[in-house]
Amino acid sequence: MSATPAVNDPELERTGRRSFLGALLAISGAAVSLLLAIPLVRFSTYPLRRVAADADWSDVGPVNEFDSLTAPVAKTISIERRDAWQTTSAQTSVYVLPAKDGQFRILSPVCPHLGCSVRWVNDQNKFVCPCHSGSFTADGERLAGPPPRSMDTLDAKVVDGVLKVRYRYFRQLVATKEEMA
Ligand code: FES
Repeated sequence: MSATPAVNDPELERTGRRSFLGALLAISGAAVSLLLAIPLVRFSTYPLRRVAADADWSDVGPVNEFDSLTAPVAKTISIERRDAWQTTSAQTSVYVLPAKDGQFRILSPVCPHLGCSVRWVNDQNKFVCPCHSGSFTADGERLAGPPPRSMDTLDAKVVDGVLKVRYRYFRQLVATKEEMA
């Protein structure tokens, strides 16, 4: 007949208490490590999160400057590019079109064929690309030449009386507008 362990064995109780305290310490340690890691992760991913939040909106000009446009007008804007912790700024141009149904429309001047700068030609009432003679209507719709699609529209909004644009680059030589990463 084998001996049954005593229910109130002090050695068993001590072992059980040690295991419980060990588990409690491990859980507390993991929780503290997690709390300490949160600010570190937030700090190291800050530039990436900031790019998403800012979304690169650039000022185009006071909105009343564009109220009575009768033809596209070229405007120079400043754009900021963030690459991890490095920020570079550059100037580029966009075309603001006469508002339609109360909405401002802005076009990228980059030709969707091979990327030359498209120009507005007032006396021909159309956009013309100097590189391969692609042409577009005053609304940026493709008219003729090798460009595979119309001129690319850019997101626009008005904030506190200022027209803003979200400048983007798009893939060339494709029939549909595809934003480049
Ligand atoms: S780059 Fe504009 S038509 Fe070729």
